[in-house]
Amino acid sequence: MEGLTIVEFQPKHVDAVYEISVEAFPLPWAKEELIREIINPRALNLVALVEEEVIGYVQCWYTYEDADIINIAVKNNWKSKGIGKVLLQGLIDALKAKGMRNIFLEVRVTNLPAQTLYKSFGFITLAKRERYYISGEDALVMNLQI
Ligand SMILES: CC(C)(COP(=O)(O)OP(=O)(O)OC[C@H]1O[C@@H](n2cnc3c(N)ncnc32)[C@H](O)[C@@H]1OP(=O)(O)O)[C@@H](O)C(=O)NCCC(=O)NCCS
Repeated sequence: MEGLTIVEFQPKHVDAVYEISVEAFPLPWAKEELIREIINPRALNLVALVEEEVIGYVQCWYTYEDADIINIAVKNNWKSKGIGKVLLQGLIDALKAKGMRNIFLEVRVTNLPAQTLYKSFGFITLAKRERYYISGEDALVMNLQI
């Protein structure tokens, strides 16, 4: 998409990322938690920008050869325009450059948009974690070798 850039999450993006997380997740992270991740040396956080407006973000933790996606979300009015794909590809490229070999994530069994996104990149389902979420919902554990 024209004008779309993927950059590292910086302190100036915190308010916008927080607003997206409130829209996207039942238990959004506090701004202080988002800031902590910016300085976490084992975290990689990217934002999608259009003309300086933050329209999506992805957060992961990585260690040795494995990374875990913690959160990925796109602003409501920007969904289904390919932003999630660009963010995920940006994350995969950055993790490959760091020598990572595996990406893991958990996703709600009912979250079909996210599962479809992950499957389109070749993620496979490894396991189901019962009652993983505080709501009692099950999670699928998914993995991509990169
Ligand atoms: C999951 C999410 C990040 C996808 O972002 P997006 O920018 O809307 O996704 P894209 O437009 O890049 O779509 C990528 C692929 O995902 C799938 N997809 C996206 N939205 C979908 C929907 N509503 N239903 C089914 N599949 C969908 C499609 O396979 C799509 O590829 P296609 O357009 O070639 O068919 C976004 O829906 C979101 O923010 N959801 C709320 C937060 C969330 O659930 N995060 C995941 C937690 S594990």
